[in-house]
Amino acid sequence: MDWDEATHALGVDEMDRTHREFTALVGMLMAADDSDFAMLFGKLLDHSRQHFSNEGRLMRIARFPALGEHEGEHHRVYGDLVQMNRAVQKGRLLLARAYVKTGLTEWFALHLATMDSALAAHLKRVGEAPAKTTGAALPVL
Ligand SMILES: [Fe+2]
Ligand SMILES: [Fe+2]
Repeated sequence: MDWDEATHALGVDEMDRTHREFTALVGMLMAADDSDFAMLFGKLLDHSRQHFSNEGRLMRIARFPALGEHEGEHHRVYGDLVQMNRAVQKGRLLLARAYVKTGLTEWFALHLATMDSALAAHLKRVGEAPAKTTGAALPVL
């Protein structure tokens, strides 16, 4: 999976940086031999935890209306990653390799185009609203 600025960039720096790292990690996992795969899968798990908790923080700061739905998706995928990482760290790579190639890649493309893109649009709207109209702290983007 290659990063394509025109397709993947959402215009919110923090999110774009994270998504660029995510696609790079997935690309490395696809090309990895068995010994590197386990190490990289552990990295993907850590990276995803930070990715999802950062988006959760942005959603709360900006009072994103679809927080529950979006975070539910993050939790579901993170749960799958945790389970797969257990197998991977015991040397069982087959399922995780298939997941990285198809399930995770397809999930990311769809999630980016729908939920993350809606969040980015909301952050840009909120970021442009003058602070005095809401009285609330605005996110620094
Ligand atoms: Fe994301
Ligand atoms: Fe997300």
